Amino acid sequence: MNIGGQNAIILKEGTSRSQGREAQHANIEAALIIAESIKSSLGPKGMDKMLVDGFGDVTISNDGATILDEMEVQHPAAKMMVEVAKTQDDEVGDGTTTAVVLAGELLSKAQSLMDKDVHPTQIVDGYSSASEKALEFLQKMAIKVNATDTTMLKKIASVSIASKLLAERKDYIGDIAVKAVLQVAEKDGPTFRADIDDIKVEKKPGGSLTDTILIQGVLLDKEVVHPGMPKRVEDCKITLLNCALEVEKPEFDSKLNIDSPDQMKRFLDEEEKILRNMVDKISSIGANVVVCEKGIDDVAQHFMAKKNILAVRRVKQSDMEKLSKATGAKIATNIDDLRSADLGHAKLTEERKVADDKMTFIEGCKDPKAVSILVRGGTERVVDEAERAIHDALCVVRDVVVDPRVVVGGGAAETEVARLLRSYSQKLSGKEQLAVQAFSDAIESIPMILAENAGMDPINSLMELRSRHQAKQRWAGIDPLKGKVADLSKLDVYEPLSVKMQAIKSAGEAAGMILKIDDVIAASKSKEGAGGPGKGHEGAKEEGEGE
Ligand SMILES: Nc1ncnc2c1ncn2[C@@H]1O[C@H](COP(=O)(O)OP(=O)(O)OP(=O)(O)O)[C@@H](O)[C@H]1O
Ligand SMILES: [Mg+2]
Repeated sequence: MNIGGQNAIILKEGTSRSQGREAQHANIEAALIIAESIKSSLGPKGMDKMLVDGFGDVTISNDGATILDEMEVQHPAAKMMVEVAKTQDDEVGDGTTTAVVLAGELLSKAQSLMDKDVHPTQIVDGYSSASEKALEFLQKMAIKVNATDTTMLKKIASVSIASKLLAERKDYIGDIAVKAVLQVAEKDGPTFRADIDDIKVEKKPGGSLTDTILIQGVLLDKEVVHPGMPKRVEDCKITLLNCALEVEKPEFDSKLNIDSPDQMKRFLDEEEKILRNMVDKISSIGANVVVCEKGIDDVAQHFMAKKNILAVRRVKQSDMEKLSKATGAKIATNIDDLRSADLGHAKLTEERKVADDKMTFIEGCKDPKAVSILVRGGTERVVDEAERAIHDALCVVRDVVVDPRVVVGGGAAETEVARLLRSYSQKLSGKEQLAVQAFSDAIESIPMILAENAGMDPINSLMELRSRHQAKQRWAGIDPLKGKVADLSKLDVYEPLSVKMQAIKSAGEAAGMILKIDDVIAASKSKEGAGGPGKGHEGAKEEGEGE
C-alpha cells in the first residue's frame, strides 16, 4: 500500500485481498454455485443427491440442509448460503432448499441490477423493504386453522414428506408424526407449546418403512442388564436413578490392609450388605423397573434379578429426562431419597430384539409428554433419509400446532406474493422500484423451478400462473405430479406460514449481507492447518482462482 509516497505493509504476508466489483462478483458467483447445486432437488419431482465424504461414507438425500452440510463448503460467501439452510432448519425445520434457492435468485437478480449501474446499497434497501412487504402479504393471505385439526396437520405432514424418498408412505408416516407432536404438545394459554426434542427418533435398518412405529413412551437402545431378570414386566412401577448402584470408591488413593481370610470375608460381606440394602430400598417402595443413568454392580444386578426387578443401566441423560416426562417418575439422585410417590408408571416394559440388537421398550404410558418413534426401512441409507423426512414432518406439524396459520404450496403463495409486490412497486419510483421488482421476480423463481423439475416449461407455466392470479385464483400453483397448473388448495398442498416467512426472511438477510461486502481480506491459512507455509499461500490463491 502507498501512504504519503512511502510503501507501507499493512497486511500479513500471504493475505489475499479483493475489492469492489471484483469482490462482489466473486462472492455472488460462489453463492450462486451453492444455490444452483440444490435447485434440482426442489419439490416432489426433485432429484436426490448422492454425497460421499472423506471416509467414503455415502449419504443419499433430498434435504437441502443435509446436502449442504455434507458438501463441506470452503468459500466464505458460499458458507453464508449454507448458514441460510441451517437457520431455516433450526427455526422451522423445512423449506431449506427453498430458502437457499431464493437467496441465490435474489443475488443473481441483484447482479443484473448492478450491471445496470444500480448501487448495491440501493438494492439492499429495496430488498429489505420488499421483504418486509412480502411478509406482510403472506400474513394477510394465510389461512387460519385449528391447531389440533388432525386432518389439516396430516395434510401438512404429507406435503413435507412428498418431496422425500418416503413419498409413497407419506400418509402412514404423516399420521405418526401428527400423533407424536399432538401427544407432546401442551396448552399454553390460548396457544400450544410443542418441543420436538420430546420426541425420540430411533432408527434401525431392516424391515420395511411401514414397520415404523410410534411408542407411547420411551425406547431405549439398551438391553436388560442381567440374564436372570424378567424380560417383560407389566404394570410397571419405574424408578429413575442418576446415581450408581455400586459401592462408592474413595476419591483419593487409599490402601486397605487385610491380614486374614476372615477380614477379607467381612470386607466383602460389608460390600454385599450395602448393595443388598440399596436393592431392598428399591423394592420396598414397590419398584419393578429400574432405569439407571450410571452403572449397576453385578451383585446388585443379582439381587434385583432375585426380586424380579428389570433393570437397564448407562442410559443417556436426555433419555432419562424423556422417561421422566413419559412416565411421570422423578429422577432420584440418591437411593436414600427414594419414595414411592416418585415412581413412574407404564403398562409394559419389555426387551425386544430389533434387527440384531436388543432394545428396551417402556410403553403404554398414560398421556406421556415424551414419546418415541422407531424408524425401520430396507437399508441403512433408506432409514437415514426416512429419519430426516420424519424430522421435517415433525417440524412442520409442530410449526402449525404452535402457530396455526397455513398457506398453499406448489408456488401458489409465492406467485401471489410476487403479484402483490409488483403492484406495490408501482407506487415506488426509480431504483427502489427496480429492486422491489427484482425481489418479486426472485420469489417467482420457486414456482418456475418446481415446474422445471417436473419437466414442464417454466416460462409458459409462469405466464399461466400469473394470468390465473390476475384473475383472482390466488391458490393457483404448480402441480408437479400431473405436470400442470392447478388450484393447489383443492389438492391439499398446505404448508406452514412460518416456513414460508422464515425462508423469505433468511434469504433476504443473507442476500443483503453478501451484497454489502465490497472488500474481502483473507489471511493466509494457518501453518498447522495447511501443512506448511508454502501451502498456506497456495491454498489462499487456489480459492481465489476457484471463484
Ligand atoms: N404435492 C405437491 N404439489 C405441489 N407442490 C408441492 C407438493 N409437495 C410439495 N410441493 C412443493 O415443493 C416445495 C418443497 O420442496 P422440498 O421439500 O424439496 O424443498 P424444501 O421444503 O424447500 O427444502 P427441504 O425439504 O429440503 O428442507 C414447496 O414449494 C412445496 O409447496
Ligand atoms: Mg421440504
